[in-house]
Amino acid sequence: MSKIKSKFVCQECGYESIRWLGKCPGCDSWNSMEEELTGVKVEFKRSPTIVNQSKPQPIKNVKSGAYERYDTQIGELNRVLGGGLVKGSLILVSGEPGIGKSTLILQVGSAVADKYGRTLYVSGEESEEQIKMRGERLNSLSDNLYIVSETNVDVIEKYIEEYEPVFVIIDSIQTLFKEDLSSAPGSVSQVKECSNNLMRIGKSKNIPMFIVAHVTKQGELAGPRVLEHMVDTVLHFEGDRTQEFRILRALKNRFGTTSEIGVFEMREEGLIEISNPSAIFLESLTPETEGAIVIATFEGTRPLLVEIQALVTPTNAGFPRRTAIGIDLNRLNLIIAVLEKKIGLSLMNKDIYVNVVGGLKLEGTSADLGVAMAIYSSIRGISIQSKEMIAMGEISLTGELRPVNHLDKMMKEAEKMGFTNCIIPRKNKPGPGGSSMGCRGVNTLKEALDLLIF
Ligand SMILES: Nc1ncnc2c1ncn2[C@@H]1O[C@H](COP(=O)(O)OP(=O)(O)O)[C@@H](O)[C@H]1O
Ligand SMILES: [Mg+2]
Repeated sequence: MSKIKSKFVCQECGYESIRWLGKCPGCDSWNSMEEELTGVKVEFKRSPTIVNQSKPQPIKNVKSGAYERYDTQIGELNRVLGGGLVKGSLILVSGEPGIGKSTLILQVGSAVADKYGRTLYVSGEESEEQIKMRGERLNSLSDNLYIVSETNVDVIEKYIEEYEPVFVIIDSIQTLFKEDLSSAPGSVSQVKECSNNLMRIGKSKNIPMFIVAHVTKQGELAGPRVLEHMVDTVLHFEGDRTQEFRILRALKNRFGTTSEIGVFEMREEGLIEISNPSAIFLESLTPETEGAIVIATFEGTRPLLVEIQALVTPTNAGFPRRTAIGIDLNRLNLIIAVLEKKIGLSLMNKDIYVNVVGGLKLEGTSADLGVAMAIYSSIRGISIQSKEMIAMGEISLTGELRPVNHLDKMMKEAEKMGFTNCIIPRKNKPGPGGSSMGCRGVNTLKEALDLLIF
């Protein structure tokens, strides 16, 4: 009889079995059995960022060295990474199929190979020929870029030992497998085990690694979320793959700020960085339209202007539709509730659609006022001079406007883009030396909407 290498363990109660079972006999829970390797020494858990073992010491005695970073030659990517690629860090690149993950990593791989030396690109998704063809299109064919089609994680480890690359790229974690496990590639146990292996290699040799991971339709990382906890940085591609803009957002970063974004345009020659995103997002702005307004938001470390559009139509079905693209649906429902209760609009029999132009997903609450004004403008048929005025402010449940952070920087950006007026919460006094735009401070949502009627 062959030696049993793996077992199935219930994640709820710890019941063990040599076969997979749908229902755990130990605790009666369904689908809780996961494959685990037997006979593997369980290493005690320490954070993967810790390389050397050390003794406790006063915090002030700890050396504060800066991280050693590689310049990826792509400014927007460096920004999202917190100033470059940290040596020995594990970076997850996630996003929908077709959004541009393979494109980005090939561009980075080639650039890093050119500047720092041998880079190993391991693909389990495409053949070497396919990657070469893409490389030709992207003009990313560095002499130091080595590629291989491989999915066995132990073989990949051997390649890393043998070729001693300075940077490793894996496309994608869901295609890798470890022979000792019988479950299919992409399963929770395979993904976990393979990532653990890669992490051990990367950390011990101080090699940075880019690992591509697919996401499911719901936006969750396919396979285990545990992957997100293990890695140092998670970069996620946002945007609509049918549009040309791609936004790369840091969801987690042990070496920089989170929610920093990088903006790219997908062209035939690859992902081109856009260093002035406000200009791009506002490019197709129509001067006077109903239901549209420009707002400012603060993403990571920089202000950004985007257009918000709203459309309000009578409901045909019994139940009114609320669709939010680019903003949180709960936030939209809250704003609608305030518009009904505090402004007296009747929206029960209206469908409401809100869209953030350009595919950006807004975080934070500074867009609330803009969303409310766009909805109001669509209902009343009032057009806002969108080329001139921007609005910022968080709406509270009482209908009052709460101040937003980084207002000065957002106003400076608006001024730079040629805006002359803004509506802001009165509590948000612009600081000295700020922008010279015409500013209307308002206390409540009602006051702000009254400004639209004149
Ligand atoms: N010849 C081409 N010209 C322009 N864009 C292309 C071309 N080929 C592919 N693309 C773009 O590249 C995208 C696929 O990128 P890719 O990096 O393979 O995505 P992922 O690895 O995330 O699945 C396509 O959606 C398309 O937008
Ligand atoms: Mg791909």
